[in-house]
Amino acid sequence: MALRTLDSLGSLAGKRVIVRADFNVPLKEGVITDDGRIRAALPTLNHLINQGARVIACSHLGRPDGAPDAKYSLAPVAQRLSELLGTPVAFARDTVGDSARDAVAALEDGDVAVIENLRFNPGETAKDVGERRAFAEQLAALGDALVSDGFGVVHRKQASVYELAELLPSAAGFLIEKEVDVLDRLTENPERPYAVVLGGSKVSDKLGVIEHLLPRADKILVGGGMMFTFLAAQGHKVGKSLLEADQIDTVKGYISAAAEKGVELILPVDAVMASGFAADADHVVAAADALEDTPFGADGMGLDIGPETAKIFADAIRGSKTVFWNGPMGVFEMPAFAAGTKAIAQALTEVDGLSVVGGGDSAAAVRQLGFEDDRFGHISTGGGASLEFLEGKKLPGLEILGWEA
Ligand code: 3PG
Repeated sequence: MALRTLDSLGSLAGKRVIVRADFNVPLKEGVITDDGRIRAALPTLNHLINQGARVIACSHLGRPDGAPDAKYSLAPVAQRLSELLGTPVAFARDTVGDSARDAVAALEDGDVAVIENLRFNPGETAKDVGERRAFAEQLAALGDALVSDGFGVVHRKQASVYELAELLPSAAGFLIEKEVDVLDRLTENPERPYAVVLGGSKVSDKLGVIEHLLPRADKILVGGGMMFTFLAAQGHKVGKSLLEADQIDTVKGYISAAAEKGVELILPVDAVMASGFAADADHVVAAADALEDTPFGADGMGLDIGPETAKIFADAIRGSKTVFWNGPMGVFEMPAFAAGTKAIAQALTEVDGLSVVGGGDSAAAVRQLGFEDDRFGHISTGGGASLEFLEGKKLPGLEILGWEA
């Protein structure tokens, strides 16, 4: 069955519409450091405002323990949303209490209110379905319809994501619709050649994705901290680089499966080895088979792919028609170890086809390195959600909107 989209709800003029967004943005001392997820909600919100709906936007932020916690307040999000929409946004200091009810009652057609962090209420994330349902019923009382648009949270069976969608007429917003459309193209009939670029620290986080995409991709490129487990599986010494020794056998299995299926598994031929994990650490480039032959010996730590690898990866990416990239190539937050990630991001902007950046870290990386969002085909707002989608898992927040994987 296909996803129920916004038009299935008919006219929403004058209706109270709850929008379940994912405003889980990074904050540093109360200041939003990347507002990408708020921007991603704007098309749906603007559409509803223009229709004259009374919009009640809600989200989680962080992982508070089912009780109010000032550091996870959505107040800075409401403020930023108001700036981005160019219109006042009311803010309720609770989720389903007096403040929320008053804010909703005061809405006129085309107005927007944000209610406080849904996870301040234990019912949102409760394991017990009865508790989730009870909270969902309180939320449902605030609105006439639900537009579910928090793609980043669709892998969670939580009250506002799942039970609420059962209680109210519900449909996916434009963000979920777009995410599903793009990510589905990465698993069903991608235009070829299709390259999957994986990085980030842990292989163990990517096992499902590798297994699901290995038979579908033409090329798999591995960088980031997880590359050292692959290099170790090839018999190389990796010094003090990140290594998941318990995954070496699994990785060996991937190396032979790729060879059997004729998938090109492209592994780094060099890395930037550093004297330690610090922005000002001494560092040199070393070949993949000589990572311990540096002044740091067995104490060296690989913090980025090397320049030769970056060139090989960039060529493979530019030569593909579909590219999915998840996970930085190195410690991009430190300028000395950002070159690999920057080269890969640059190559993705030059793809003559569909380029997709997935996962919170990679999205933050491209923005931090100064790339504009519109230089990529799509930047997914989902971290865990986009990975689980690409693993072929059933996602509760999509299933309840009619989607069948
Ligand atoms: C995310 O950041 O991936 C989503 O907002 C989901 O957050 P969660 O992992 O805390 O459920």
